[in-house]
Amino acid sequence: MPPLTSHNASRMAYNMASAMASAMAYAIALTMAYAIASPALAQELPPVPRLAEAADLDPDPALVQVALTAAETGDPVFPYSYADGGIGPIIRVPLGASLAVDLDNALSDPTTIHWHGVAVPEAMDGTLWRFDPVMPGERFRYAFPVEQAGTFWYHPHFDTARQVDGGLFGALLVDDPAAPAADDELVLIFDRAMESHESPRGEAGHGALMGGWRINGAHAPLAFTARGGAAVRVRLINVSSVGYLDLRWPGIRHIASDQGFLPALQTPDRILLGPGDRAEVEWLIGEEGFSVENQPFSLNGGETWQAPSELLRVAVTEPAPAPDGLPWPFSGAAPSDDPPYSDIVYVFAGSDRTGEWFINGEQFPAVTVEAVPQGSRPIIEIRNHSPTHHPFHIHGNHFEVLSLDGQRPPYARYEDTVDIPVHGRLRVRLFADNPGAWMTHCHILPHAEEGMMTVLEVGVPEGPPRGAP
Ligand code: C2O
Ligand code: CU
Repeated sequence: MPPLTSHNASRMAYNMASAMASAMAYAIALTMAYAIASPALAQELPPVPRLAEAADLDPDPALVQVALTAAETGDPVFPYSYADGGIGPIIRVPLGASLAVDLDNALSDPTTIHWHGVAVPEAMDGTLWRFDPVMPGERFRYAFPVEQAGTFWYHPHFDTARQVDGGLFGALLVDDPAAPAADDELVLIFDRAMESHESPRGEAGHGALMGGWRINGAHAPLAFTARGGAAVRVRLINVSSVGYLDLRWPGIRHIASDQGFLPALQTPDRILLGPGDRAEVEWLIGEEGFSVENQPFSLNGGETWQAPSELLRVAVTEPAPAPDGLPWPFSGAAPSDDPPYSDIVYVFAGSDRTGEWFINGEQFPAVTVEAVPQGSRPIIEIRNHSPTHHPFHIHGNHFEVLSLDGQRPPYARYEDTVDIPVHGRLRVRLFADNPGAWMTHCHILPHAEEGMMTVLEVGVPEGPPRGAP
């Protein structure tokens, strides 16, 4: 039991108040026999905040130049920020342009920025294997062209669990000129505060973790209001260090994954996003609103006992027939075959009990560096020999999911972050095109810090590894 700080006390008061409020709402709903229309209720929920976009400081349309300062806020829940207290700004770059971000480190610790999912040159990747972090008081310019459209995000890769959980994260959107304009675009960043204060072991680490979800920095549930007839593009980003999202709503229309538009529209019955993962969906607003619910997720597999909770309520202002889906530039790509061999096998192992996590029996930074030629398409098999899910992530290059436990995915899936279930066997084909020494790890940040990270070299990078600090 942690000491009852004023923060905990206010969180307890908040939880009690919301429990009482939901009990009262339930009683009212029973009495009125569902007579309350959902738009009326939605007005009682606070609106989901809209995230600001970073100013482009350079007039040249082929260059987006942004200034970010990582600073301490004095807020115990969100001690760090790229934006004077809030979530980092949305950085929006047209496909094919270059991005330059000047980072000022006003923290009292070193930091870096990693561009999660983007094929950047290794020196821009924000990792410490062969490069130095940005020291307190220093400025560093991250600069690279963006060659893949999609929904990405940025975060430090130094003291990662603490700095990310403390508030250093933001969305990086690379816009495809072939994509139609939606009536509205909503960027939803999901996180849970104070995760680094929870032990990843012990009771709190099991099953669905404690602590509520926030969306764009505000406590869920929240409301989003749209006009009937509108088509809304929604970008979902899970920046939580540990928490999985298992989102459900009626008529899911999944249009894009980590590495851009899917081969074709998918209509799954859930969107599962582990830490670091993203998805894009479209909402075709019609006569009635709906709820986005999250099914609490067990890291140890199996169903949780908790009921789903509402994270977002979509309310309709002027009911009208729902529009048709937009003509997204789906790729039409066919899935590759899953061949009967592997070039690299990673065995993920470890346990909540010991808090030690391994890849092939090794713990970062004392790892064997696997190397593959630039331009090759190595088959990597990841075997999860642990009783816990792990979101597998690789830097600098993306992969196609070939199979999970022998099951082929229903479409060609291009990802950089993908869940491996308990005892699962994931096979991927890496597009090993971007030379460098790339971090390859579990994106449950405490697991990565407790050893579950390795290095994969594409081509032969120059200079010896420095190890980690
Ligand atoms: Cu978001 Cu090493 O990654
Ligand atoms: Cu893990």
